[in-house]
Amino acid sequence: MSKNIALRVEELLSKMTVREKIGQLNQPETPLPNELDAFFESVRKGEVGSILMSVGATAGNDKQGAISNDFYNEIQRIAVEESPNGIPVLFGRDVIHGHHTVYPIPLAMAASFNDKLVEECYSDIAQEASNESIHWTFTPMLDLARDPRWGRIIEGTGEDPYVGAQVAKAVVKGLQGDDLSQDGKIVACAKHYIGYGAAEGGRDYHRTEISDYSLFNYYLPAFRAAVKAGVKTVMSSFNDVNGQPVTSSSYYLDEVLRGKLGFDGFVVSDYDAIIQLKKQGVAADNATCAEFALNAGLDMDMHDKCYIDNLEKLIEDGKVSMETLDEAVRRVLTVKMEKGLFEKPYCERKEYNKEAHLKNAEEIALESMVLLKNDNNVLPLKKDATISLVGTYAQERRSHLGSWCIDGKEEDVKTLCDALREVSTGKVWYSKGTELGWDSSLVNSYAADVVVLALGESWSTTGEARAVSDISLPKEQIELIKKIKLSGKKMVGLVFCGRPIAMQEISQYLDAIIYCWHSGTKATDAAAKLLFGEVSPSGRLPATLPRLATHIPLYYNITSSGRPVDCYYNENPAKCYVDSIPTPCYPFGFGLTYTQFKYDDLKVDCDKISLEDIKNGKKFKVTVVLENIGDFDAKETVQLYLRTPVAKWMRPLRELKAYNKVFMKKGTSQVVTFEIGFDELGYYDPQGNYTLEKGIREIYVGENCLTENKIEITVC
Ligand code: NOJ
Repeated sequence: MSKNIALRVEELLSKMTVREKIGQLNQPETPLPNELDAFFESVRKGEVGSILMSVGATAGNDKQGAISNDFYNEIQRIAVEESPNGIPVLFGRDVIHGHHTVYPIPLAMAASFNDKLVEECYSDIAQEASNESIHWTFTPMLDLARDPRWGRIIEGTGEDPYVGAQVAKAVVKGLQGDDLSQDGKIVACAKHYIGYGAAEGGRDYHRTEISDYSLFNYYLPAFRAAVKAGVKTVMSSFNDVNGQPVTSSSYYLDEVLRGKLGFDGFVVSDYDAIIQLKKQGVAADNATCAEFALNAGLDMDMHDKCYIDNLEKLIEDGKVSMETLDEAVRRVLTVKMEKGLFEKPYCERKEYNKEAHLKNAEEIALESMVLLKNDNNVLPLKKDATISLVGTYAQERRSHLGSWCIDGKEEDVKTLCDALREVSTGKVWYSKGTELGWDSSLVNSYAADVVVLALGESWSTTGEARAVSDISLPKEQIELIKKIKLSGKKMVGLVFCGRPIAMQEISQYLDAIIYCWHSGTKATDAAAKLLFGEVSPSGRLPATLPRLATHIPLYYNITSSGRPVDCYYNENPAKCYVDSIPTPCYPFGFGLTYTQFKYDDLKVDCDKISLEDIKNGKKFKVTVVLENIGDFDAKETVQLYLRTPVAKWMRPLRELKAYNKVFMKKGTSQVVTFEIGFDELGYYDPQGNYTLEKGIREIYVGENCLTENKIEITVC
């Protein structure tokens, strides 16, 4: 924060009444038409610090009104011209993976392993959002999730803390830029701090048990990265961790977030979370909820009015100190000043290049989709092939936009059928199924060269409060696959899903599979281009795809057990369950393309390095020679995993520590280099201290987490 801003904040703070200060911590939602007069009056009195620009507890699931700049500019005018100290209001909306241009769901964007492109997409998103009065968005969602039943797995980056950290940096940078006060930049919010993705059984909002060792090594790294990238706000999560609601936990909010991670922005609660402390059983009344939350370090109250209704009295009674209140207000005012709201409180539309945004949306959709299977090179399809297109998602539009898509329009999405017809030079026959007694889907499939099955799940089974108990494809879709198999034709499955699903059953019937996710406005154009080979697939899985729904949780960065029952890396998998093999159907980091890559000559530039040198910033180089030996130009994501076989605390069998996505023309080779040092070689102890030990490190470099391409180095 600049000195200038700090001085301005103090000056302003000294002029504010207690009521106005509390007003800065109050975030009501957009008023309904019958509430307008009262609402304008509270803005006039300085009682509204921020507005949540939506209505309802699960904004991502419900239809929301379009934004009117005139409306929000009028609210702002009242705040600036008529409220006692003229403090502008901060407007916030959930713009999770796109505003008008919709990009793939965040889990899919993580599959692109292309941080630069993710950053560009979020820069586009900020530009579109800031054109419609939005100063602040509740993104990135950084909840590590190992249970795909949880509907909100779509909003995060999957099972890996390193991927989470890389995406966190990219999103914060894309939204906030280097200077938040610039036109087209908006305030980011890292959420949901902390542990929300560990909800028991994948049931939304449920309790979590997270040891501090896991917290520091798995759940916090993405937040640490967001803080390092300068994220200005953090949203606390609904859940409790080990019996402590995060909303009222000074351990998680103050000690860990501010103390250990160094966060200096402000914390906003999740929707109604402060008042929910009563339901969680740690406070008996609203006043105590407010007291606990503010004293724990939670600065802004989303929606439940617990602060505005109770803090004045709590200050009078000495249950909350003026210093605590001032500190929270200081944080909010600082972000408003950094955003430049005092200089430019009103929204003015700026021209932007819509085509460029659509181009990025298509590019990231292309890079996010994952080719899982391609037996006998059935893909890419010949452009003049006769295709029988079947399945629910052939004519669907809305689901491609995914959950948490408030402002995207389904009319902007092409159906898969239309998209295929645009690229194909042959025939694309679409059939719904049985018509007039004929099973046209089967008849078409007999007559076609190849069948494309459009499979998946509806957007409405994903997102907030939308957990499922079974992550298999719906039975009707499995039946459809089995029926079409009777045609004897090659079958290509396009799977449009928001979460990892159980893959064993469908994999055995399909000759080729592209996991297409819910990939936004350009989802179907991208799928068509990949199918016909205009671009080679390059997405990689950010979350394991299990064989069976009953195998979850299944994630790659597990520690070894004492007995050889490791279920991920093939060591005696039969000992894990007696009734099924629990190794992943498709492991973390997995993804094929139309060419083949050969890895050769893995090297480190030294076989020993001293602990002291590493602490002083020395790095060693790991190199590998990568060759495109196939017939297509393509991108490969070279992944570097680390294992510390002996340490004071059990370390995972593999941990992703670096990746590099490179484009290579067919027939070319190149050396891919990684620099490894302090940040990669250590881990956190349960007190949150970063620990670096002497000993061997195994370094694996390859195409996914199962690679056995290994070299060692000793830290001495
Ligand atoms: C509740 C959700 O948990 C959170 O992610 C969202 O930002 C808020 N509602 C506001 O809509």
